[in-house]
Amino acid sequence: MESCSENVKAVRRSKEEKKLLRKQIKASHTLLKHEGISTVSQPTKSLVVANGGLGNGVSREQLQDVLGEVGEVEILVMPPHKPYALVTYRSEISAQRGHALNGRQLQCGDQIVTLYLSYVNTVDSELWGCVDLPPGLVLVEEFVSPEEEALLLDAIDWTSHDEDVTVQKVLKHRRVKHFGYEFRYDNNNVDKDKPLPGGLPQVCVPVLERCVRDRHTEVMPDQLTVNQYQSGQGIPPHVDTHSAFEDLILSLSLGAKTVMDFRHPEGRSVAVVLPRRSLLVMKGESRYLWTHGITPRKFDVVPACDPKSPAAVTSDLSNHSNLTLSRRGTRTSLTFRKVRRTPCDCGHPSACDSQQPPAPPSPPFLPRSQTDACRLEAEFVHHVYEEIACHFSSTRHSPWPRVCHFLSSLEPGSILADVGCGNGKYLGVNPDVIAVGCDRSSALVQICSERGFRVFVSDALNVPLRSDTCDACISIAVIHHLSTQKRRQAVVEELVRLLRPGGQALIYVWAVEQEYNKQKSKYLKETRQQGPTGDSTDHNNQESKSFTGNTTDAHNTAQDFSGIATDCTKVHRETESPAKLSVHTNRTAFNSQDLLVPWHLKGGGRGGCNQGRGGDEQGEQGSKNTLDPATEAQAPAPSPVFHRYYHVFQKGELEELCVRVRGVAIQRSYHDQGNWCVILKKTGDR
Ligand SMILES: C[S@@+](CC[C@H](N)C(=O)[O-])C[C@H]1O[C@@H](n2cnc3c(N)ncnc32)[C@H](O)[C@@H]1O
Ligand SMILES: [Zn+2]
Repeated sequence: MESCSENVKAVRRSKEEKKLLRKQIKASHTLLKHEGISTVSQPTKSLVVANGGLGNGVSREQLQDVLGEVGEVEILVMPPHKPYALVTYRSEISAQRGHALNGRQLQCGDQIVTLYLSYVNTVDSELWGCVDLPPGLVLVEEFVSPEEEALLLDAIDWTSHDEDVTVQKVLKHRRVKHFGYEFRYDNNNVDKDKPLPGGLPQVCVPVLERCVRDRHTEVMPDQLTVNQYQSGQGIPPHVDTHSAFEDLILSLSLGAKTVMDFRHPEGRSVAVVLPRRSLLVMKGESRYLWTHGITPRKFDVVPACDPKSPAAVTSDLSNHSNLTLSRRGTRTSLTFRKVRRTPCDCGHPSACDSQQPPAPPSPPFLPRSQTDACRLEAEFVHHVYEEIACHFSSTRHSPWPRVCHFLSSLEPGSILADVGCGNGKYLGVNPDVIAVGCDRSSALVQICSERGFRVFVSDALNVPLRSDTCDACISIAVIHHLSTQKRRQAVVEELVRLLRPGGQALIYVWAVEQEYNKQKSKYLKETRQQGPTGDSTDHNNQESKSFTGNTTDAHNTAQDFSGIATDCTKVHRETESPAKLSVHTNRTAFNSQDLLVPWHLKGGGRGGCNQGRGGDEQGEQGSKNTLDPATEAQAPAPSPVFHRYYHVFQKGELEELCVRVRGVAIQRSYHDQGNWCVILKKTGDR
């Protein structure tokens, strides 16, 4: 009896198998006849999945799940509106297992579709007029309901600027709000130690829990950026900084659909329609290697799609015969990311900031706030002087004659403060005065004290000396390092505060006008051919000496920077920030008032000063002794380049700054070798 029923079952099975085979052959014929796709009987790595197309109501997700059960899918092409899909497995074995999925049924809405799979020779996605989504990218349609969408949109209060909870910014092309951590557009990173106290909004929790449940993510994101795009707005192509965030990025599209453009560094591009209420999951290659961006425009060209299978992927739109225009509405995106705590070790080192040699500092922007100004000066003035102190000092031995003249004219016993004294080259000029110096750079102050000068570390904005105590103050080539007008004025005010009534201050700043009264400054005149001319009267000329032969280097540096700014796969900088500072080419005319001046470090910088040397250099001119001959003899290491921020003054600008300061009169103002100079006298008037 038993064997009889087994037989019946076997017969039935073979009948079903035969039926399946018949249907599969029929499907192959249809594909050949209507789509020009020829199937082969020999196993290959690629299969055509009849009935598994967007045109059958099968979603990409659904098909990917089924095909992925039996092996690793390399390419899945789902041409819009077509009743089939094409898949390539990583191995032939996987494709054979895929082939065995023949007859698999899928529930699509209220319909059941049966898949028939046959081998094909290759899947040439270009040929099919449809490029696959970038690897690692998944689009989940209808991820939130219309009710949830309304709830989320309501919860984003653009009128509140509660800085404790959120940081809100209006960028050139959109407005943004950050939760959890502020995303900074100046360095495209987050301050990992400065979480925003409010965390992520409560209203997002159910959405995120669903992401975990549906296995889109295993970790809970801790950073949210809300972007609001009006019709016509967009976001420049970029890769989210690897070192800032973990692999997974989730992005919810609310309010309106848009088209997001993905681009592979080799040029391949895929435009992805992000429908309203969809979730975009970016992982792996699509997150680490491809850039993504939204072109600012009011209409998108999209394939006309039937409502049942909205086309998610388009490639070269010229391949599509059925196109339509879609007007953009206001779209709000919620992008959830997880702040990264360890360096990124992704498999795409070419695009990975964690795996690249440290990039030269990115060009900063002209500061718009006090905080930005402090940051800029910290990185591009104070840090630089600290690093180059020794080399800098070795180029500073000759005091400028007109400064010396001022110093020599002081009464014996006068109290003199040199604010921003550098290596102290003016502190010993007039031995009959009591000179004290201060500087922001502790390395330079150290050099001064080794030379026996009275010095202390201090910021020129806040000098710890009593008011009305100095007979004279000098500040030579310092105020041009302050990055806002307010701060430059504040230094002048500080100098005036130190002066006793009747006391005088001498101020020098670098001038835009390097050619004055038809005379070029030494800074401009000195060229490599002329070679070093020995000690010059012009400190800037001195500086230029250290660049001798490096004019092209400086130029290259400028190019490097511009490269960084434009190549979005290297540094993922958005371009909506304020004016970017340009890198000056040494010994050329200035083309901007706010700029970065390269310094090519020689001789090991800060550390080199003290190596093998004691306090016996006291009173010496520092200079040539500071380079360790042993170091010099070694194979030359590429000289590191530092950039100092300068605001070069226009004619009249220094005077304008000084007249804003109360209780002081301008006694003289003049141009001296590419510098603007003033002598002020404290009147004591308030
Ligand atoms: C071009 S050097 C001039 C040094 C010296 N006065 C000279 O003529 O040789 C500029 C100096 O200003 C200092 N400096 C820059 N910003 C400063 C600040 N905010 N407070 C104090 N010193 C500052 C630097 O550390 C550096 O020593
Ligand atoms: Zn990486």
